[in-house]
Amino acid sequence: MIEVSNLSRRYGALTAVDDLSFRVQPGEVLGFLGPNGAGKSTTMRVIAGFIAPSAGSVTVCGHDVQREPIAARRIMGYLPEGAPSYGEMSAAAFLGFIADLRGLRGERRRSRLDHVVERLQLGPVLDQSIDTLSKGFRRRVGLAQAILHDPEVLVLDEPTDGLDPNQKHEVRALINEMREGKTIIVSTHILEEVDAVCSRAIIIGAGRLLADLDGAALAQLRGRLDSEFRRITQEASHG
Ligand SMILES: Nc1ncnc2c1ncn2[C@@H]1O[C@H](COP(=O)(O)OP(=O)(O)OP(=O)(O)O)[C@@H](O)[C@H]1O
Ligand SMILES: [Mg+2]
Repeated sequence: MIEVSNLSRRYGALTAVDDLSFRVQPGEVLGFLGPNGAGKSTTMRVIAGFIAPSAGSVTVCGHDVQREPIAARRIMGYLPEGAPSYGEMSAAAFLGFIADLRGLRGERRRSRLDHVVERLQLGPVLDQSIDTLSKGFRRRVGLAQAILHDPEVLVLDEPTDGLDPNQKHEVRALINEMREGKTIIVSTHILEEVDAVCSRAIIIGAGRLLADLDGAALAQLRGRLDSEFRRITQEASHG
């Protein structure tokens, strides 16, 4: 599980994340919502161990991401915002390189590579360099990289950003397929996505926790939205 405790992160004078605390349990898919600049990516970068907190701490399955970075990273998959680095590599070479970094060998290496290529439908672009891929395909290579070692914990920063409707659907199905026993955080701007994959959602603004909506609260909200939507469309059709 993931435990974020009184986390703050400053960039010079700017406080991007401000005393943020929350937990995510195995089996949960937490939607991480908030307007542009709210601090979602910053929080996820700290969880993934890419940047250090200014205050507070993060543990992943009991491993402090600052004090035990190797243990924490081993059990975690992280999809950063934007495109993977190593853009001059072909998609196949990049995934092979990540498989080596993750210590995958032999039959398991082959079967995991086959699995992610199949699930993210990367077959046609495997020999193309990442820099020359379309935005959606770059995103899919990033996702393939994040799930390659079948990690217990997944931190996905806007996983469906830039994907076509079909692929959005595929990636949501993939998250639903993987959720059992895993701890997953997904940042998104798409409410439909919260509906499709999340069991809980938190909303942050200016780096602070604004709301924590569990399954029941989400269902209630969804019910209200549905009835509002019906009312508005009925009024429109009668007017
Ligand atoms: N490397 C950096 N240096 C300085 N300021 C930064 C840096 N990275 C992020 N920030 C600032 O921190 C704040 C939070 O940014 P962050 O990227 O975490 O937001 P976000 O919630 O992911 O937004 P978006 O929805 O646009 O992805 C913003 O004001 C941003 O400009
Ligand atoms: Mg972001």
